[in-house]
Order: sequence, then structure tokens, then C-alpha cells
Amino acid sequence: MEKISFMFISALLLCYFTETFSALDAISQYESIADNGTSLVSKGGVFELGYFSPGSSKNRYLGIWYQKIPVQTVVWVANRINPINDSSGVLSFNSTTGEFILLSHGNKTVVWSTNSTGVDRSPVLQLLDSGNLVLRDDKDENIGNYLWQSFDYPCDTLLPGMKLGWDLKTGLNRRLSAWNSPDDPSPGNFTWEMELHAYPEPVMWNGTKEFLRSGPWNGLQYSGKPTKSLPLLKYSFFANEDEVYLTILLVNESVIGRMVLNQTIFHRQSLIWSASSQNWTIYAAFPRDQCDTYNLCGGNGYCSLSATPVCQCLDKHFRPKLLANWTSNDWSNGCERKKALTSCQNNDGFAKYEGLKLPDTTRTWVNNGMNLKECRAKCLSNCSFMAYANTDVRDGGKGCAIWFGDLLDIKQIPGGGQDLYIRVSASELGAKIKKWKIGLVVLAAVFAILGMLLVYYFTCNKKRKFQDNIGKIDRDNEEQEDLELPLFDLPTMAAATNNFSLDNKLGEGGFGPVYRGRLIDGQEIAVKRLSRSSGQGLKEFKNEVNFIAKLQHRNLVRLLGCCIEGEEKLLVYEFMPNKSLDFFIFDETRRKLLDWSKRFNIICGIARGLLYLHQDSRLRIVHRDLKASNVLLDSEMNPKISDFGLARTFGGDETEGNTRRVVGTYGYMAPEYAIEGQFSIKSDVFSFGIILLEIVSGKRSKGFYHMKHNLNLIGNAWKMWREGRPLELMDECIGNNSCTVSEVLRCIHIGLLCVQQRPEDRPTMSSVVQMLGSETALPEPAQPGFVTAEKNPHDQYSVSSTQELPSVNEVTITLLQAR
Ligand SMILES: *[C@@H]1O[C@H](CO)[C@@H](O)[C@H](O)[C@H]1NC(C)=O
Ligand SMILES: *[C@@H]1O[C@H](CO)[C@@H](O)[C@H](O)[C@H]1NC(C)=O
Ligand SMILES: *[C@@H]1O[C@H](CO)[C@@H](O)[C@H](O)[C@H]1NC(C)=O
Ligand SMILES: *[C@@H]1O[C@H](CO)[C@@H](O)[C@H](O)[C@H]1NC(C)=O
Ligand SMILES: *[C@@H]1O[C@H](CO)[C@@H](O)[C@H](O)[C@H]1NC(C)=O
Ligand SMILES: *[C@@H]1O[C@H](CO)[C@@H](O)[C@H](O)[C@H]1NC(C)=O
Ligand SMILES: *[C@@H]1O[C@H](CO)[C@@H](O)[C@H](O)[C@H]1NC(C)=O
Ligand SMILES: *[C@@H]1O[C@H](CO)[C@@H](O)[C@H](O)[C@H]1NC(C)=O
Ligand SMILES: *[C@@H]1O[C@H](CO)[C@@H](O)[C@H](O)[C@H]1NC(C)=O
Ligand SMILES: *[C@@H]1O[C@H](CO)[C@@H](O)[C@H](O)[C@H]1NC(C)=O
Ligand SMILES: *[C@@H]1O[C@H](CO)[C@@H](O)[C@H](O)[C@H]1NC(C)=O
Ligand SMILES: *[C@@H]1O[C@H](CO)[C@@H](O)[C@H](O)[C@H]1NC(C)=O
Repeated sequence: MEKISFMFISALLLCYFTETFSALDAISQYESIADNGTSLVSKGGVFELGYFSPGSSKNRYLGIWYQKIPVQTVVWVANRINPINDSSGVLSFNSTTGEFILLSHGNKTVVWSTNSTGVDRSPVLQLLDSGNLVLRDDKDENIGNYLWQSFDYPCDTLLPGMKLGWDLKTGLNRRLSAWNSPDDPSPGNFTWEMELHAYPEPVMWNGTKEFLRSGPWNGLQYSGKPTKSLPLLKYSFFANEDEVYLTILLVNESVIGRMVLNQTIFHRQSLIWSASSQNWTIYAAFPRDQCDTYNLCGGNGYCSLSATPVCQCLDKHFRPKLLANWTSNDWSNGCERKKALTSCQNNDGFAKYEGLKLPDTTRTWVNNGMNLKECRAKCLSNCSFMAYANTDVRDGGKGCAIWFGDLLDIKQIPGGGQDLYIRVSASELGAKIKKWKIGLVVLAAVFAILGMLLVYYFTCNKKRKFQDNIGKIDRDNEEQEDLELPLFDLPTMAAATNNFSLDNKLGEGGFGPVYRGRLIDGQEIAVKRLSRSSGQGLKEFKNEVNFIAKLQHRNLVRLLGCCIEGEEKLLVYEFMPNKSLDFFIFDETRRKLLDWSKRFNIICGIARGLLYLHQDSRLRIVHRDLKASNVLLDSEMNPKISDFGLARTFGGDETEGNTRRVVGTYGYMAPEYAIEGQFSIKSDVFSFGIILLEIVSGKRSKGFYHMKHNLNLIGNAWKMWREGRPLELMDECIGNNSCTVSEVLRCIHIGLLCVQQRPEDRPTMSSVVQMLGSETALPEPAQPGFVTAEKNPHDQYSVSSTQELPSVNEVTITLLQAR
């Protein structure tokens, strides 16, 4: 029954379409289009012109949409500022003015007109298959000789063949502006237009504030374009004395694609129609990341996603203008030269910077005929010239662009971007390069000697002071390696922690309480005290000492020393004023302090720390107990992985281990580890995936994911993902504006890849770090790992596999309490 009615409707639709588009793709001066179902359809049936009401609005607009695409996708609106409140609209010709006009309310009000001039003989308004609505003379055979065309008055959509930019002869500026909302096509605050500087470049604006630059055209692409994007949609750029514009081009002509501005989210999107899933897929969206924020780092700063913080001064010749603001992550004041370019001399030099999006071109000077050498000479000739670059990177580089004033909005494009040469004053460069090299060698030698003396002094000093204790550590240390770990005595520790007072207690760690303390020199410390009762603890204590003493990374907590006296065993760490990650993300009020850029920074930091553990450190280490409460935060909210009590190391190529004692924390354990005791770097990747999802969602991963009642975090994430609404997972506190939604989506995607059931499907941390820092397409995640868990009366968890896993014996889990 359903099938029959479907076929019937299809047939009906087919008749209707064939009839209309064979009948009408143009109207003449004697015809009109009223809002009664009449429309124009382009010859090939690609586009349709007619009346529509957007979203939930009742207003009527005259617009153009794709005729064959079932999701109504409006690409152009005539009366976007003047809606018609009923269906009285009539489009017809006014022979007095020579314009096609849109009238409403019984021909009383003109809501829109083609604004055409010089129309006589026999005007025709025609819709072309490109989506262009053109007014031409019926007798004029010259294609392209239009009296008026809608492509000159774009709305929010750039179609292939449209120009974004200037007709310099008439002063026509074709710019895009977003719809105010899906219900209201009137121009919103986001616009995109070609800026006519000496070195022209397209810029997106949010109202009157510059919002996003892609950089100037460099002969091949825009200098800020990320390298790795699929070549479906290509840009090109055109400039001469008559015109300056950009266009887009679909590489495969059978693909349907467009570019659109959006007021609320993904402010500039490239969309491709997917015939298989019958919807639009976002092919690229801007802004992509924090570094796309216009001038985030102020003058003479640059933004790099791989740096912490993302904003850095150009180099050692520059320093933050307002250090206090800079260190509190307000980079807007930018950087200044340490030594002003006071006297401008001919022997000034230039430092070469590679892989950059070129700075804002508002203040530039350009000569396309010069080569790089001439450009350099020109740049030297005027003290206010700060930097130069090639305007065209083809053929080894040609053309000359010079910047004056502060350099704004520079972004590092890994693997892409361009070279920029920035002026360095003669005094900073030193006299001659040869002398400079000799100087360096001498300096290095002096430092080496000094360093050796210092090391010698400290080791001897320490040995003398803590002779007794060192022996003990060495004996305990199975690797027989000298630890070089400072030892503290018990009285010092007692004094620092106010005699281990309850007031100083920070929390309970894996094997004992943790206290806050202050050394006599004022340094704040955290002291972990092994509880005397804990027999298990001793092993973990030694473990932690062994590992962490050998690890040095800015995303790992630093061990300052230890103390072993009699029964007392203490570990001394740097103090982390902001406690741990769980303290923030799961707290109603504190979670608001973590906006998306902070969260993303934390995610990247944990990933780097873990990568170091797995791959880059001397020991290859599996942490085994990665969780939000083991990620500590320093005063600038940089994450540091802590608690190595359960960590295990692997020699050489070994990447997997097995244990009969499964320890870890519920909610973070990978299924193969929980069930079979099999741990590997991939079980850490699983835990990382959980933390990532926790950071994005602000929800705690409480236990295992159960197939039947998937109430838990991964279950929920997987459900939302499959239903195509992953953003609903996002913590409301992140908000839509303060973050880059594409980044959130990417993180959810990566999180799901990390928690996949099969360890071999999960990415390694080095791929995770790469995925976080790039825009490459990601593989589809498979089902996340899950096991069933039932609580038994003895407060232990028995874990058994579901049908997805090979049947194994039940294993009992030792549950370590979360701090
Ligand atoms: C719509 O109105 C026009 C005149 O305004 C008329 O010519 C046309 O037949 C009408 N079409 C329908 C489907 O009613
Ligand atoms: C539509 O607008 C006209 C003029 O602005 C007004 O006279 C009329 O009442 C409005 N109709 C409706 C249904 O709002
Ligand atoms: C055509 O435009 C002229 C000038 O604006 C106006 O006076 C006239 O009423 C218009 N004619 C029609 C049919 O709308
Ligand atoms: C509006 O103008 C069109 C042509 O310009 C005419 O066909 C139509 O009858 C007019 N309608 C009213 C209500 O005046
Ligand atoms: C109509 O044309 C005039 C003169 O060419 C121009 O100033 C005006 O901005 C145009 N209006 C629209 C809506 O294009
Ligand atoms: C902006 O993008 C969002 C998400 O893709 C979409 O839901 C919304 O309709 C878009 N807004 C407009 C005005 O198209
Ligand atoms: C656009 O900007 C103006 C002024 O900055 C503001 O009042 C208005 O609310 C903004 N509109 C939207 C849709 O954000
Ligand atoms: C756009 O500008 C408005 C007002 O200036 C501001 O409130 C809003 O956050 C800006 N939007 C974005 C995405 O930067
Ligand atoms: C172009 O796209 C069509 C449809 O997506 C596909 O069948 C065809 O293979 C593509 N052609 C090329 C050269 O990629
Ligand atoms: C620097 O930061 C302080 C405190 O956050 C703020 O009051 C001040 O306006 C900032 N200065 C500038 C120039 O932005
Ligand atoms: C240096 O360049 C600036 C900016 O173009 C210009 O105003 C100034 O006159 C130039 N000075 C000299 C000496 O050429
Ligand atoms: C498009 O359709 C596919 C398959 O039906 C779905 O997975 C995807 O979420 C949809 N995308 C959007 C943006 O609706």
C-alpha cells in the first residue's frame, strides 16, 4: 500500500517537474510570477525560482533553491529585507523604469526590484542552471551580456561561478552576509568580502569587527589555508585593474556544492550534497580552531596550536607588551621589540619564519615585478617597513609584499603556509655572522664548564647531606640506577605540612593521604604519605619513585624528592594550585571556569603527556590508572598527569603485558584489561578516550557500558553519535559561542575512536596528538568497548563478557577508590 502511494506521488512529481521546466525558465515583460505555485525552473532543472517561507516563519520571500534536492536549500533571496506577510507577491516588469519589480498587497508596495538600467527592446528574466537569475535582452545573442544578474547581489551563499569581490569600474562590491536566523533571511552580522588593500585579501567580519582571515592569495591558494583538505572544492583568485575577486570551483562537476555563511555556528561552511544519505555534509567549516580568531595574539605575536599557550611572541627579539596580561592569557596587547629599532641602518637583517599565514595586509606595499632580493633591499630602505614576503610562491617565489607597522594575525600552518622575513635590527644581529658563530662556540664551552661545576657541586652536596638514605633507595631499586632524587628529612616534612595536620590534607591518594606544605624557602609542595598499614602501598611507592624520577615532561607532575625514614615513606611533588581535573569539570560552578579553549588545551596536554609516556620517554610506560582525578592542573590550567603507582614499563618492542591482579578504576578501564588482565598502551588510550569524553560532556564515567541499559557516558556518547546528534553531548557550559564547534565534534570523534572495543582499532597516542592538531578526515569509530558489570554483596565487581567477547573466566577487580 505504502509502496503504491509512493510510486503514485513520484509519478505525479515527475509530471509536474517536467511540465514546469520545459514550460518556463524565463519570463518576458508581458508575464508575471505570482505566489500561487508558479515558479521558474532552469533549463536543466537544477534550480527553481519561486516563493517560499523560511523555517517556521509565515513571511513570504522570492528566492532560488535547488530544484532536485528534497531538503529545501535556498541559495538566493530577492526581498530578504522586505518580507511579504501574505501570498500577495507578484513579480512583473515595469516598463516605465525598466525594472522587474516584486509587488505586494495588490500592487501597492514595491518590496524589491532588479535595479536595472538601459533596458529597452524585449527584456527577459531567465533562471540559468548555474543558479544565476539574469535579465537580458531577448534579441541579444551575446551570452554573458546581462543587464542585471542575481550573482551581482549575493546573499549568504557562494555558488560555483559566483564572484566574491569588486568590479572596480562600477564600484560594485559583491559580498556575502549570513541570514539572521533560519527563519529570517535578512542580513546578519557575519559578512565576507574582499578587502581592497595594496595586497587584497578576503576577510570575514562579525559586524564591524574583523573576524577571520584566510590570508592573501599566493598564486596557488590563500596563505592561511590548511594543507590537508580534500580537493573537491577549489578556490581561485583574480585581480587586475578592472576586477578583484575570488571564486570557487567544483573539481568534479557532477558534485553539488556551495559555500555559505552562518550567523550562529560554523560561520563559514563548505557543503557537499550527499546523494547516498540525502543530506548536506559539511566539507569544511571556519573557524577551525582557536588560532583562527582574528588577531588572538595581538601585534607581533603568532598563534600555534602546538604551542602552550597557543600565543607566542614572534621570537626572542620580541617580548609581551603587558606581561601580566599576557601570562593571564589575555594576549590582545601583543608583543613589542625588546630593543626598539632606534636607528635604522642598512646593516639591519631579517629573520626568516617558515610556514605562516601571512599577516593582515591592511598596511602593505606591493610590487609584483620584484624578486625576493629586490624586495629585501626595498624593505631595508624605509625604517617603517617591518617584514616582506613573496606575493607568489610559484616558480620558486616571485613578487614582493612589504608590511609596515605591527604584524597582526599571524598563524602557524603546520606543513603549509609561507615564508615571511621579519626585520631584525643590526645591534641584535651582532656584527658579522662569522664572529657570531665563534661567539656561540665560546659561549657553549663556558656554559658546559659552568654546568659541570654546578652538577658536581650539587651532587656532592646532596650526597654529603643525605648519605644514609641514598643507600636505602639504591637497594630498593631493582634497576640499580642512581636516582639523583633529592631526599628530604622527616622533620623538614613535618614542619612543611604543619605536622601532617588535617587542615593541610588535600585528599587521599592511591596509597595514602596527600598534604599541602611549604618549604622554608617558600616553595609550595604536595606531600604524599604512604599509610603505614598499607602493605600493598610499598610496592606502588617504589614504583612511583622509579618511574617518575626518570620522567621529565611539562605534562607530567614533577617529583621534587622523597623521604624515607623508618616506617615513614613520603613523596614530595610540586604543588598544583588548581587541584585536579575532576574538581573542575564535574562541579556545578567551577565547570564554568573551563571554557572550550581551556578544555581543549587540557585535552592536548594530557595527550602529549601520555604520548611521552608511551613512546618518547626512555622507558615505555603504561600508566594503567589514568583518570580525571589523576590529571592535576597548575596555576595556568595546564594539565599534568600524576600517580604512577600502578604504572608498568615495557622493554624495547614489547607493547603488551598481562597481569593477574587487575587494578584500576571503574569507568576508565578498557574491557580487555578488566576482563583478561591484558594491559597495553591501548588500554591507556581507552582511559584517555573516557577522560576526553568527560571533558567535553562534563559528565562522569561511572562504570562499564552495558549494552542493554546504556545509561553511562560511553553508551550515551555512542548513541548520540549514531543518531547524528553528537553535539548534544557537549557540556552546556561550553556554550556555542565561546568555542569552535568543529573542534568539539572532532574531540568527540577522537574520544569514540579511543574507546573502541578492539584494542587494535584504537589509535596510538601519536595518532591522537596528530588528529587533535590537524583537519584530516577521521575514520568512523566502531562500537565502543563494553562489559557487563554486576555489583555483588561484597562490594566487589564481578565482570563477565557479553556475546561480543570471547568467553573468559570471571575475574575479580581490585577497586581503587577515586580520590
Ligand atoms: C497564478 O496567477 C497567475 C496570474 O497572476 C495566473 O496566470 C496563473 O494561472 C496562476 N496559477 C495557478 C496555478 O493558479
Ligand atoms: C500585511 O502588511 C500590510 C501592510 O504592511 C498590512 O496592511 C496588513 O494588515 C498585513 N497583513 C497581515 C496578515 O499581517
Ligand atoms: C512603474 O514605475 C513607475 C515609477 O516608479 C510608477 O509610477 C508606476 O506606477 C509603476 N508601474 C507599475 C505597473 O507598477
Ligand atoms: C498587479 O499587477 C499585475 C501586472 O503588473 C496585474 O496583472 C495584476 O492584475 C495587478 N493586480 C492587482 C490586484 O492590481
Ligand atoms: C541600485 O542602483 C544604484 C545606482 O546604480 C545604486 O546606488 C544602488 O545601491 C542600487 N541598489 C541596489 C539594491 O542594488
Ligand atoms: C547554521 O548552521 C546550523 C548547523 O549547521 C543550521 O542548523 C542552521 O540552520 C544554519 N543557519 C542558517 C541561517 O542556515
Ligand atoms: C549584530 O550586532 C549588533 C550590534 O553589534 C547587535 O545589536 C545584534 O544583536 C547583532 N545581531 C545578531 C543576530 O547577533
Ligand atoms: C560577534 O560579535 C558580537 C558583538 O560584537 C559578540 O557578542 C559575539 O560574541 C561575536 N561572535 C563571535 C562568534 O565572535
Ligand atoms: C564525480 O562524482 C561522481 C558522483 O559522485 C562519481 O560517480 C564520479 O566518479 C566522480 N568523478 C571523478 C572523476 O571523481
Ligand atoms: C590588562 O589586564 C587588566 C586586568 O585583567 C585589565 O584591567 C586591563 O584592562 C588590561 N590591559 C589592557 C591594555 O588590556
Ligand atoms: C616609509 O613608508 C611609509 C609608509 O609607506 C611612508 O609613509 C613614508 O613616507 C616612507 N618613508 C620614506 C623615507 O620613504
Ligand atoms: C546525513 O545522513 C547520514 C545518513 O543518513 C547521517 O548519518 C548524518 O548524520 C546526516 N547528517 C546531517 C548533517 O544531518
